[in-house]
Amino acid sequence: MSDILKIIQERQSDRVPFNPINPIAKEDLKQILEAARWTPTAHNMQNFDIIVVDEKEVLEKIGNVKSHISEVFLRENYEQLSFSKEELLKKKTGILGAMFPPSWRDPSKIAEIARESTPMPLTQSIRGSPTLLIVLYDPRKRAPASEGDILGFMSLGCVMENMWLMALSLGISLQILSVFAAPPVEKQVKQILNVPEPLKIAYACRLGYPTASNKYLRVRRGIEDFAHYNKFGNKGI
Ligand SMILES: Cc1cc2nc3c(=O)[nH]c(=O)nc-3n(C[C@H](O)[C@H](O)[C@H](O)COP(=O)(O)O)c2cc1C
Repeated sequence: MSDILKIIQERQSDRVPFNPINPIAKEDLKQILEAARWTPTAHNMQNFDIIVVDEKEVLEKIGNVKSHISEVFLRENYEQLSFSKEELLKKKTGILGAMFPPSWRDPSKIAEIARESTPMPLTQSIRGSPTLLIVLYDPRKRAPASEGDILGFMSLGCVMENMWLMALSLGISLQILSVFAAPPVEKQVKQILNVPEPLKIAYACRLGYPTASNKYLRVRRGIEDFAHYNKFGNKGI
């Protein structure tokens, strides 16, 4: 297998706690940022900025920001869950229900949980990570005629993958944290980090070294499930 395919296949979301006293070396951080630098972006707009957060006090301030789980998230999350490994292997998409609290797996409780659950501090998402990368985008740097800035968002995805593959190749674990883009969280994190308007947070990446096994069942559709040859529906070469 080529090295590039091996690294693409081995990249994974590491949701386990990271060791807070095992920092990311500055040299490694630079390599990750270098990978971001060479990201393809629509019209070469380079519509992103990245804030590296590794000061304890700043991490603590961010960790104290609270997020509330929405009913929409809980419902749509529930629809993607599999309730056994066998089901997930058969479905080939989505996530194993066991990765979420039991109450999230009961559709009759979802409205109640969304209404009554106490907001959670971001420390519970950051989970000991010594370094966060907060990826910002500038909505003014829209590629020409890109309706809804869709090409800009695709570009931010390319930034994500470039950094993720680079981190993995350096033996550094990474998890994407979309919660940083949720409006109430975004507002507070922007204040803490002095982010000027009209910049927006796209997502955060937590970097670190796992303190527990990070192996979990990862599934994908087969090539035959998504590839079509010359006409939609034509399977196989
Ligand atoms: C745009 C985007 C947002 C994501 N947001 C989150 C997130 O908030 N939390 C999380 O744990 N994983 C997040 N992920 C990771 C996906 O859930 C993960 O890539 C997918 O389940 C496949 O698992 P794998 O990364 O281990 O291959 C995100 C991925 C993408 C591309």
